[in-house]
Amino acid sequence: MMKDELRQSKVLVIGCGRMGGAIIKGWCNGLVAPDNITIVDPTPFPDLVSGVKQVSGPEEITDDFFDVVMLAVKPQIFPKIMSLYAPFISEKTLILSIMAGVETQAIEAMTDSKQAVIRVMPNTPALVGAGVMVCFANAVATPQNEALCDTLFSPLGSVHWVHDESDMHAVTAISGSGPAYLFYFAECMVAAAKNTLKDEVLAAKLAKETLYGAALLMQQEAREPMALRQEVTSPNGTTQAALEVLMSDGVLDALANNALQAASKRSLELSALEPA
Ligand SMILES: NC(=O)c1ccc[n+]([C@@H]2O[C@H](COP(=O)([O-])OP(=O)(O)OC[C@H]3O[C@@H](n4cnc5c(N)ncnc54)[C@H](OP(=O)(O)O)[C@@H]3O)[C@@H](O)[C@H]2O)c1
Repeated sequence: MMKDELRQSKVLVIGCGRMGGAIIKGWCNGLVAPDNITIVDPTPFPDLVSGVKQVSGPEEITDDFFDVVMLAVKPQIFPKIMSLYAPFISEKTLILSIMAGVETQAIEAMTDSKQAVIRVMPNTPALVGAGVMVCFANAVATPQNEALCDTLFSPLGSVHWVHDESDMHAVTAISGSGPAYLFYFAECMVAAAKNTLKDEVLAAKLAKETLYGAALLMQQEAREPMALRQEVTSPNGTTQAALEVLMSDGVLDALANNALQAASKRSLELSALEPA
């Protein structure tokens, strides 16, 4: 679908909270005409782009069908609403789902026809345009559907694809939950900084700004983290003294490994709770 066609596409977004709202803002920035977007959410969205229609349930929808339907409700809401939106979905509709753990098979069951479904796992840095989106397309989705998904999600950050749906569990553990791991490391570093420097406000700022700068450097230089670490570690210097503590006995490596395994296992357990 060309960008001109996309602007004219009718889009329905079911659930407009933190993530759905951020995605719509990205789309309204020249990709889709706001007048063509309808959102369904019982709570009025505080920062609605002018022209976007908000309704509180399917009975208030004025269009007959939509080119794109995005599911952005919490996974536990999905079974309660899935049958309500089937009348707005045609064979040509692309269903996008950002719901964690809900498999394409459960989403396909929304309609009788063979339906193109693409699951997208975003993460919260998408709120500032630095997200990581990982997508999985079902067998019905065409290369055009995939290209459309790339176009729709690239304003929110980088877009990647997996070709085996079971990989979405590992993806959830790495990029979906990943921002929280850095936030926890930041918490620890802020607490330690406050123990080291008398000015606690400055200590917290230095810790947070350093993590931000280091992440930016890693992104812009496109080099492996190990190379960047080695470059700033002079023999017998201060960085080496700290790293010897952080790297002792490979404790952090083991913790990172166990943490990702635990998240991936939990994602598998949660998806098993969804109706097939
Ligand atoms: N946030 C993340 O980091 C993240 C990352 C990856 C994937 N996801 C997925 O993204 C989805 C949305 O997450 P979120 O963080 O944006 O959650 P959220 O802020 O709670 O948004 C969900 C929205 O759906 C609304 N809603 C509830 N019942 C509804 C219904 N029957 N019809 C239409 N809308 C309804 C909620 O309204 P009320 O508040 O009034 O209930 C809320 O505004 C979830 O499935 C989650 O798994 C989120």
